[in-house]
Amino acid sequence: MARPTALITGITGQDGSYLADFLLEKDYRVVGVVRRSSTENFSRIEHIRDRIELEQADLLDQYSLIEIVGRTRPSEVYNLAAMSFVPTSWTQPVLTAEFDAVGVVRVLEAIRLADPTIRFYQASSSEMFGKVREVPQRESTPFHPRSPYGVAKVYGHCITVNYRESYDLYACSGILFNHESPRRGKEFVTRKVTHAVARIKLGLASELRLGNLDARRDWGFAGDYVRAMWLMLQQKEPDDYVVATGEQHTVRELVELAFEHAGLDWREYVVQDPALMRPAEVDTLLGDPSYARQRLGWSPEVSFPELVRMMVDSDLQQLRRSGAS
Ligand code: NAP
Ligand code: GDD
Repeated sequence: MARPTALITGITGQDGSYLADFLLEKDYRVVGVVRRSSTENFSRIEHIRDRIELEQADLLDQYSLIEIVGRTRPSEVYNLAAMSFVPTSWTQPVLTAEFDAVGVVRVLEAIRLADPTIRFYQASSSEMFGKVREVPQRESTPFHPRSPYGVAKVYGHCITVNYRESYDLYACSGILFNHESPRRGKEFVTRKVTHAVARIKLGLASELRLGNLDARRDWGFAGDYVRAMWLMLQQKEPDDYVVATGEQHTVRELVELAFEHAGLDWREYVVQDPALMRPAEVDTLLGDPSYARQRLGWSPEVSFPELVRMMVDSDLQQLRRSGAS
């Protein structure tokens, strides 16, 4: 049998890089979509650069997507590209809508025109639940987004369901709760904390400024979550799935664990900064992954303490290797 081809938008991001690793292990031909930039940033995929194909296109440009899907002929398309940092969505709401909402229908249109048998995964988000209507959140929980990012993701989710129902596409929406890793961007709270812990430990910093320490999140490991994406596209029928650990922690607990792992007392270093509070906060997120467990046989393998320790250790190692201490 010929090798299946997967096309990944957002391959240079955290999830794209883990998904590419995962699909290469499964002997896929992996085609990654990258947008043109004056300086390449392929650091997360450097280790697999010679095993994947990179193609230039942009979620803002319909023709580029039609051309790439038509030419590379994938059997699966994973749409992971997005402006993914919630605070930026208040300062760039229109751009966020273009990437995260309209961008999804551009990819769906490219599939519909090139080959409607292509299987499609949309990276939806627990941020859509926002001001949560029930606890825990499941596939049927109503949405109440609290940021322009969340609002755009609701459109992406709904248009995916709509294309499945209108055109009979095999289109799935994965409602993923927060997932992290050593490859997480440094502006997100987990990596911001673990990177700061490593810098403080090595004498490179003496303070960490944070916003809301009481926010609660259901945090998992990105490497576990990309497996769920793939499983969604291997079923008989397409559907939407919540992917989460079913466990919740506060930002304060995250901070305590990370500092403790480095033998530090967080109270000596953490400063709360009102400038880092959000105009409308998502106070609490807790997912119910029973449907994914039951239908996909998926469950997370890395626990929250393991995840935090993995990230602190990785940041320490990276800084030491760069000779920063
Ligand atoms: P990430 O690390 O920020 O990666 C985002 C990717 O999107 C990057 O490869 C980026 O490319 C690309 N991109 C952005 N705008 C683009 C455009 N106009 N055209 C083409 N590519 C573009 O995000 P992530 O954590 O891997 O998340 C992956 C997806 O899952 C996102 O859609 C995110 O919203 C969603 N999600 C994430 C989580 C989570 O906790 N991580 C949870 C739920 C949903 P550049 O390298 O060029 O910037
Ligand atoms: N980033 C950040 N920086 N967050 C902070 C800080 C800080 O200094 N201090 C407290 N927080 C709180 C935020 O207010 C939020 O409640 C929580 O930490 C998590 O923030 P992020 O790590 O930035 O993630 P997020 O939950 O806003 O969004 C992530 O998860 C979504 C899924 O629920 C992103 O990956 C989104 O793309 C994703 O859809």
